[in-house]
Amino acid sequence: MSIYIRGTGSFQPGIKLTNKDLEKMVDTNDQWIVERTGIKSRNISDGITTVEMALEAGKRCIKDAGINPEEVDLIIVSSVSTEMITPTCSSFIQHKLGCKNAIAFDINAACTGFVYGVANARAMLKTMNMRYAIIIGVDTLSKITDYDDRSTCVLFGDGAGAVLIEYSNEESKDNFHAYLRSDGSLARYLTGVNRLNESPFVDRKNSVDKEYLDEDMEELINNSKYLYMDGREVFKFATKKIIEAIKTVSEMSNTSLDEVKYIVPHQANSRIIEYSARKLGLPMDRFFVNIDTMGNTSSASIPMALDDMNKQGLMSDGDKLILTGFGGGMTWGAVFVEWSKHK
Ligand code: UT7
Repeated sequence: MSIYIRGTGSFQPGIKLTNKDLEKMVDTNDQWIVERTGIKSRNISDGITTVEMALEAGKRCIKDAGINPEEVDLIIVSSVSTEMITPTCSSFIQHKLGCKNAIAFDINAACTGFVYGVANARAMLKTMNMRYAIIIGVDTLSKITDYDDRSTCVLFGDGAGAVLIEYSNEESKDNFHAYLRSDGSLARYLTGVNRLNESPFVDRKNSVDKEYLDEDMEELINNSKYLYMDGREVFKFATKKIIEAIKTVSEMSNTSLDEVKYIVPHQANSRIIEYSARKLGLPMDRFFVNIDTMGNTSSASIPMALDDMNKQGLMSDGDKLILTGFGGGMTWGAVFVEWSKHK
């Protein structure tokens, strides 16, 4: 059984927000942002919804793969910023893309969500003997970003990316491996947006169940209208976990990192990527980086990067890739996968 990436698509919304623009909004400057993060600009929604961005990326992905929408068996959308809890974003996509035979559901594993989505899709294609899955990573983080908080608002962008994978049980290559991890004890380092119980049966606005929560977490949940991040702690976490994930999935696949064409990391900070490259003894050109014009788009960053690489013609059939994510939860992981646009 084998699995291949057959197509990609992405969408960046209309408003380009530069570091210079942000200088007018908060006490920051272009030099600080570029030196500390690698970001020069990011695109922000002008009102386009998470669902609409996902739909556009999905449409472009199906076109790129050259298949009929009715052939799609599975749609998984990963996001922390969908408009509705139900119907899910993936339900809208399934209907609007005309994928009438597809199973559709959403997942949320924050910035690791796309990697979780690909691993889930592969497992489902295999157990249910299906062929095509679309995994979409989409986020409108501007909805939940505090534009008075310079420590977060300079980081995030909006966008959507989609990838179509094909599962084939005719071939005998074992060319997919996944390493997924979570550690809820670190959850307080990255939080955002509560959905507390405000029903008439609850006698206080903040219905956090204290029994299950650490004290600092209770405070964060009660006040979480926006994304909150302890940048330094997340930075330490990210640099450690990204290396662990890359090394593990390379060992699982019996493939040395020299044989991997590109490592495609979650685009959170170019310093995290540079640090990982140094520690792994790899040149930076083996890591794909487009954070300079994208910012951190959470779930969308890896599929948007893959679409960027596809458009630039960077990959050939048979190229091996490692996709790696880390973020809220805290979650982290990597998948080893093969690129193959043509059978
Ligand atoms: O997507 C999920 C995963 N997310 C990540 O992986 C993000 C991980 N964290 C990071 O990328 C970095 O920690 C940040 C980019 C968020 C921050 O960079 P840093 O080098 O860790 O900066 P810092 O938080 O240690 O702050 C250094 C200084 C502080 O001033 P003092 O206390 O040294 O006087 C901050 O107040 O920089 C200040 N600062 C800023 N200055 C100008 C913080 N934000 C800004 C800003 N402009 N936007």
